[in-house]
Formats: sequence, C-alpha cells, structure tokens
Amino acid sequence: MSPLNMENGPPLFLAPMAGVTDYPFRFLAQYFGADYVVTEMVSAHGLVQNNRRTWDLLVGLFEGGTSDCLVQLFGDSPKILRRAADCLRTEGVRPVGVDINMGCPVPKVVKSGAGAALMCDPERAAEMIAEVRTSLKSWCEVTVKIRSGWSEATINAAPFAQAMAYAGAQMIAVHGRPRSAFYRGRANWDVIRQVVDAVQVPVVGNGDVNHGDDARCLRERSGCAGIMIGRAALGQPWVFREIKAAFSDVKSVRMPSPGERLAIALYHLELTVRLKGDRRGTAFMRKHMGWYTHGLPEARLLRVAIHQSATLAETRATVQTYAKQHGFSIASRDVDEMKERLPDFLGR
Ligand SMILES: Cc1cc2nc3c(=O)[nH]c(=O)nc-3n(C[C@H](O)[C@H](O)[C@H](O)COP(=O)(O)O)c2cc1C
Repeated sequence: MSPLNMENGPPLFLAPMAGVTDYPFRFLAQYFGADYVVTEMVSAHGLVQNNRRTWDLLVGLFEGGTSDCLVQLFGDSPKILRRAADCLRTEGVRPVGVDINMGCPVPKVVKSGAGAALMCDPERAAEMIAEVRTSLKSWCEVTVKIRSGWSEATINAAPFAQAMAYAGAQMIAVHGRPRSAFYRGRANWDVIRQVVDAVQVPVVGNGDVNHGDDARCLRERSGCAGIMIGRAALGQPWVFREIKAAFSDVKSVRMPSPGERLAIALYHLELTVRLKGDRRGTAFMRKHMGWYTHGLPEARLLRVAIHQSATLAETRATVQTYAKQHGFSIASRDVDEMKERLPDFLGR
C-alpha cells in the first residue's frame, strides 16, 4: 500500500507555506485534523551547501520525528535536486514524501529557473523528478506541486502533469491558478479536473478551499483524491476539523470561542518560542497573532499592544489584560490535549 494513504475519504493536506508551515504550525494543523502536512519550501542549494538556516527548516523530521509530513524542495537543476535528496537520506530525514515545488511565483525564485518557471520547461522538470526518484526510490515517495500553467494564455497543467507522472511523480498537487495570477482571482477547479482525467496517480486539489462546503464542492467538481488547504488555516488551524467533519456524518462542529482562540494562539506562541528563542519567536509570531485575533472585538488595539510586546511573558500579559477587559476566559481543552501529545524533543 502506498504510504500516502488516499483510501479513507479524501485526505486533507496543510499546504506548504514559506514562513508559516514550521514545526509548531504543522503540529497544530495535524492535531486539528490535517492528515498530511508539508514543510515550507526548502532550498536544495541550501541543503547541499550545508546552510544551517536551511537545515533548521527540517527540525522535527530527523529519524523518529513527525510522521505524515512531506518535505518540499525547490531548486533550478535536476543535479542539485538529486544531491539534496541524497543529503536528506544521508542525514536520516525520512518524510512520507519529498515534494518538488513547481508553483512558486516569486520573481527571485522564477528568475533562477525554479518554482513556476519549471512549468515552461517540462523536460527539465521531468528530469528533476526522475533524478529525485532515483535517489529516493526505496526511501519515500516523490510528489510535485504545480500551478494551472504560467499564464491564462498558456494553461498546461494536464499535459505537464502527465509528463511528471511519466517521469515518476507519485502524487500531484494542483493549485488552480496560473503563475501570472500569483494569489489573485478565483482558483480554477476545472483545470484540476483536467489533471485528474489525465493521470493515473492521485491528484490533490488546491486553491480557495475555506470551509467544508468548498472542500466538498472541489472534490465533486474535480474528482481529486485529496484536498490541500493553505490560507484558510492561517489563524484558524481548527479549520481542518470543520473540513474533516464535512466528509463524515458529523453534522456541525463548534468553532472555538474567543477565549479558546486566544489560548490556542498563546500555545502556538509558546511552542514557537521554544523553537526559536524568546525574542525571535515572539517577533516571528506577530503575524500569526494578527491572524488569530482577526474578527475579535477591538482587534486592532489588541494587535498594536501585541506588536509592542517583546517576549512571551509580555505577550501573555497583554492578551490576558485584553481577555479580562472583554470577559473572555483563556482556556482550551484542545491545548490540554496538545500538551499531552507534543513529542518530547520540543520539551513538554
Ligand atoms: C504565505 C504563503 C506562502 C506560500 N509558500 C509556498 C511554498 O513554500 N511552496 C508552495 O508550493 N506554495 C506556497 N504557497 C502557496 C500555497 O501552498 C497554496 O498553493 C496557495 O496558497 C493556494 O491555496 P489556498 O487558496 O488554500 O491558500 C504559499 C502561499 C502563501 C499564502
């Protein structure tokens, strides 16, 4: 059986998001129901050159670390990708799969010939998959994440996906937007259907899934085997619980109260501080705190106060003062359960 299990209803994937899907966020997403999670994109060059910051992105993935995680690599040349895959093996990083990024729209990445630029060069992209597959054949699966094409005028996801599957890709995630759209406009789920019809390997649909209803609609419309969720999880990792429920008999799922949201946010902050240190972790978490507090009363004032808090203790005090003013009690059964489940290496 394939280690990427698609048999029990559509598996839910946390999408790779640079600067977001680090160890703490992946842990939260998995707790709330993501079946698979993907790291931030990791530079193949950085791994090969033994760049410490690049290797730090893989914390939690060394032998015995998180299961059901895919490592996403990006790079411009098949040889570098191959060497990066070799490095993962040598260092004992054994994820469920290694995913190759062929969708990143960022100019710096595209100009180097990586990310979405590969969709304009199917031969080099296929060679990349073949090289990585040769390295990882008996180690883990090799998957690829693509866009619908480079631009609206050059939509090529279906033939491109065929070429990737032929080269050895064992799963294909499709973000239904061309590179030219970056993240604007609506994702085109019909292109995902075209890919499903074109290849034998499982296809994971991605783009604009915000709720359980969207997820069901995407699945019906495209026939995709799995569903990948990105932005909807920002500041609400519990979205996976709601989407999971949409594919089960569970009628409705209670959304966390403001006090529970704040408790989850503070726990996320605590994990991040353990990983990155107090000041660095607190600064890094400001964007997440902004997302978590979205829609709360007087959220703007709260955000300003959070931005002025430099440490975990200061942020906690800020949030507690705010909660007291609004009569919210900061507590969550989910946080208690997460504490029980947290792997040892982060230090319970
Ligand atoms: C902040 C951010 C960072 C992202 N980083 C990556 C990345 O590293 N690799 C990748 O393949 N896609 C990346 N993406 C794209 C997402 O994986 C996903 O394809 C896109 O957001 C569409 O899905 P959504 O509508 O569910 O957000 C990123 C998106 C965002 C918003």
